[in-house]
Amino acid sequence: MKNYIGRKINTAIFISGTGSNMRNLIKFSNANKSPINVKLVISSNKNAKGIVYASKKKIANYSFKFSDLKYAEKNIFKILSEKKIKLICLAGFMKILSHNFIKKFKGKIINIHPSLLPKYKGLNTYNRVLKNGEKYTGCTVHFVNSKLDGGKIILQKKIKILKKDTAISLKKRVQKEEYLLYPRAIKKIIN
Ligand code: GRF
Repeated sequence: MKNYIGRKINTAIFISGTGSNMRNLIKFSNANKSPINVKLVISSNKNAKGIVYASKKKIANYSFKFSDLKYAEKNIFKILSEKKIKLICLAGFMKILSHNFIKKFKGKIINIHPSLLPKYKGLNTYNRVLKNGEKYTGCTVHFVNSKLDGGKIILQKKIKILKKDTAISLKKRVQKEEYLLYPRAIKKIIN
């Protein structure tokens, strides 16, 4: 994603739930010097909290049931083309995109994951790191490819796990770092 010279990159955010990262990216995109312009939010859940916020901020948003993946992706692809979207940020998006979709947007889909990848791919990362007695965990922003949480790493932030940490306290601290890391990673890939 080269040649960003003052023109913001049209960006879509895909969510499934709370959307706190989405909210943070929208704030980031509103800053003058931000390289992105969030033009679209796609949700896999029509009741996602994030959708309410997107509507409030007057950002176009659509919900799709991903039970029919082909149908959903066909429609999403149409909207992405109409809105000239050049970057897709997954933020708590709980569905797996098809190989075909990922291929069409090769190098343009990124994700944030709550672990130090390649360790702890998949769900339930906080409980698993605690159960394994890890000393450190963190978060990773990476490109999305067809392997779950397996694409090239853009940036990572490591944090120390405290003795008193629970899955809840850990999530809180990791997410705080996510809000800093995601914008930094976007700046890094748009140069
Ligand atoms: C984030 O912590 C992210 O690491 C993971 O899902 C969580 C989504 O939280 N992929 P939110 O919806 O952004 O609040």
